[in-house]
Amino acid sequence: MLNRLIPIVRSFKDRYPKLYGGLVSIAKKFLGNRLGVYPRVMGNELKAVEDVLKSSQWNMAYGKGLAHERLEADFAEYIGVPHAIAVGSGGMALQMSMRALGLKPGDEVIHQIDTCSATAMAVLNAGATPIFADVSNGTFMLDQSSIIENSGKATKALIATHMWGNPENMKMLRDQATASGWKLIEDACLSLGTVAQGRKAGTWGDTSVFSFGCIKPIQGGEGGMILTSNEGLARELRAMRHWGDRTIEFGVRDVEQLAWNGRMSEIVAAVVREQLKGYPKHLELLREAVLDFKSYIEKFQGLELMLGAGQAPDQSSYAQAVLKIDLTHSQVSKKVLWDNLSGNGITLWHANFELINSLSFFRKGTWKEWILKGDLERIEKNYGFHFPNAQQVYDHGGIGLAKMNFLSAENLKHLKSTLEKIY
Ligand SMILES: Cc1ncc(COP(=O)(O)O)c(C=O)c1O
Repeated sequence: MLNRLIPIVRSFKDRYPKLYGGLVSIAKKFLGNRLGVYPRVMGNELKAVEDVLKSSQWNMAYGKGLAHERLEADFAEYIGVPHAIAVGSGGMALQMSMRALGLKPGDEVIHQIDTCSATAMAVLNAGATPIFADVSNGTFMLDQSSIIENSGKATKALIATHMWGNPENMKMLRDQATASGWKLIEDACLSLGTVAQGRKAGTWGDTSVFSFGCIKPIQGGEGGMILTSNEGLARELRAMRHWGDRTIEFGVRDVEQLAWNGRMSEIVAAVVREQLKGYPKHLELLREAVLDFKSYIEKFQGLELMLGAGQAPDQSSYAQAVLKIDLTHSQVSKKVLWDNLSGNGITLWHANFELINSLSFFRKGTWKEWILKGDLERIEKNYGFHFPNAQQVYDHGGIGLAKMNFLSAENLKHLKSTLEKIY
């Protein structure tokens, strides 16, 4: 019932922003659980922020025993990797990883064509060249034959993305990277707690990256994390997040690398640490709700919950639940599903992102102003390719249900009854 109000409330947002803000805070206070509001307070965030604000250390650069250090320790322990480096965003985590792993202009980095455009931008901002590969129809995850087809002499790294919290085939990608002499970066920005072939997402890459920004599993307003098992790399990354200053990590007041301000604010670190504390319980309940939904939709022919390369529903972390629409068995098209679900106040999205080479920067050739080294003809060919599987998923084959649909019994009931009317 409450969900029916969502489209009406949304229409207020632009016209009466103040009224909208007031309505949202009242709804969160009194109806938060029934509406499945997300992000949500999952620990003692308010007190943690107060503690930082009362201290004189709002910035990570100076001092010891700071909030970001406690967050790094907790995060490393949760994933099971020795070193965690807190940074300003997931994109920054990606570009710092590439720089620290030694990538240089002219080096190519392969990733899936239909991930967040942040990935391609991060490769470019690291000075390297993004090269795209298609996904597989069976998993919606990277297709090995497309990786091989699109790789070449200049390929130096592979980014494996656990899309929407579904696990990638990390054994295959790790073996491919090792056999080819490539670095492997795991993009787990959407996938905290995902399990890939028996190991947590974040334990397979030379580095792995997480984000605490919008729609991410835990949030801090913004923020990111890099994990690595390599102590030397961790030291390098810590220097790199302070504009390359090596004083804290190496005891030398010198700069060796082109670097950024990759720092995380102490206020953000305090919030993310509390989010992490509440996350295991949150994930457990989310998985239970999605499992219930998975069994429920078995009766709808041609509609299936996607688990990526995973085998069981308790291996995914569901930044959104991805559904496959198989039109050989279903009379219901993506458009009909989309219109009816969103028309009934159900928050949804595509099962992947728009193909990155369809974005103006790539389509109109603006990239040529930035990629100045490498086999430009080969790169241009890659950017001009049609990637049929990813396109099919975007146009017809998949739909994504936002996490909030599974965060309250009322929302889940509404989702089920809406589907019941469509099928
Ligand atoms: C898969 C993926 N990688 C990287 C990023 C970039 O993260 P951030 O927005 O924190 O820079 C995003 C953001 O949505 C993402 O979805």
